[in-house]
Amino acid sequence: MDSQRLMPASSIKESRDFKNTKECRSWSWTGDLHRILCMQGGEDDVSYAKNSDGPAAALGLSKPLLMEAIQSMKLFKGEASLRIADLGCATGYNTLTTVELLVDRLSERYYEECDGVPEFEAFFSDLPSNDFNTLFRSLPTLYGSTRQHYYAAGVPGSFYHRLFPKRKLHIAVSLSALHWLSQIPKPVLDNTSLAWNKGRAWIDGAKEEVVEAYAKQSEEDLISFLQCRREEIVEGGILFILMAGRPGSLHPEHQLGDPDSRAKHPFTSSMDQAWEDLLNEGLVDEERRDTFNIPAYMRSPDEVRKAFEQCTGFEIRTLEYRKIVEHSKEKQEEWIKDPVSYGRAKANLVRASLKPIIEAHLGPKLSEELFKRYEKRASGDTEMLHKTCFYGVIIVCAVRI
Ligand SMILES: C[S@@+](CC[C@H](N)C(=O)[O-])C[C@H]1O[C@@H](n2cnc3c(N)ncnc32)[C@H](O)[C@@H]1O
Repeated sequence: MDSQRLMPASSIKESRDFKNTKECRSWSWTGDLHRILCMQGGEDDVSYAKNSDGPAAALGLSKPLLMEAIQSMKLFKGEASLRIADLGCATGYNTLTTVELLVDRLSERYYEECDGVPEFEAFFSDLPSNDFNTLFRSLPTLYGSTRQHYYAAGVPGSFYHRLFPKRKLHIAVSLSALHWLSQIPKPVLDNTSLAWNKGRAWIDGAKEEVVEAYAKQSEEDLISFLQCRREEIVEGGILFILMAGRPGSLHPEHQLGDPDSRAKHPFTSSMDQAWEDLLNEGLVDEERRDTFNIPAYMRSPDEVRKAFEQCTGFEIRTLEYRKIVEHSKEKQEEWIKDPVSYGRAKANLVRASLKPIIEAHLGPKLSEELFKRYEKRASGDTEMLHKTCFYGVIIVCAVRI
């Protein structure tokens, strides 16, 4: 990347953005995250819709388990409609293809095993800031005009709260979403606390106190999620969860498996370096850097099992940790020849998932400066480019009993 594309510090300092960063943040990491957090909307190069290959690969990996769950699910005979919810749907084709797959497979089963096929209702649920317009614009292209597979509706709200009336849903899925926490734990934002997360945007490799605070938040959040779904899912209904996770053997300080995967992950080294660059160039102060924390936590299978045990009301049928390769061999070879495009792809990935919260923290101009520095750092790390890295996921299928 060409360093001339970086905006000179003087012109950024003069911008309204920088002077007003304190004032422009009229929301809090602890109470209002649900108003800010979302994936980048639209369909351009930095949108989630164009940068969701990782979640698509995770979905591909978990599909056989989802199909197994549907195959063995109790059929609700006599119901006029079956109700499916995708919690944390975002935009793009992962949610649409999943709902389509569920409807098709269930239709086949009803056709083969019952007197008639019910109608289907699909609830696409995400935080209110999600780009539901883009999502719904994709609906007709997916199913064409000839056949109406299901009735679609959007449900805005946090999955850490109730979203549906009691015993409403037959199937709830949540794909690559539950590793997002409901808030940044309060001690992590308190500069007098031992859990103050200085110099890091995330918790991988952070101090024990920071990690403990995140782990506690994650535990509370998962229990809240399960308690809400326990109310909403009918007896015999299915809860299927795919979320980013870590192997059971790893302490939560090590969120990301092997050291290479950790170093290369979008939330770690390049992100911290980009913040450090802004700090060294005088574009942000330490407080602004240190109050930015990424609200994500990779749970272990044991942590997930414990939450189910505490919540009760579900019987776990499957609970697995699996690894997926970060990207294909062909893509890696392409990027090795062109590290600049690698840096850009990585920065776009970060924009797609973090731009809304980074902009809320820094304002649009400084955020763009951060992404440019991220891009430069990522493309400059040619050693990492040669390494094959992995993401970890946890897949759970449970039946409401
Ligand atoms: C990485 S995207 C996954 C999207 C889609 N399920 C997929 O597999 O491509 C994570 C989604 O979870 C949503 N999300 C995060 N926290 C949430 C919450 N508390 N309630 C509802 N949705 C949430 C985000 O807004 C985002 O759209």
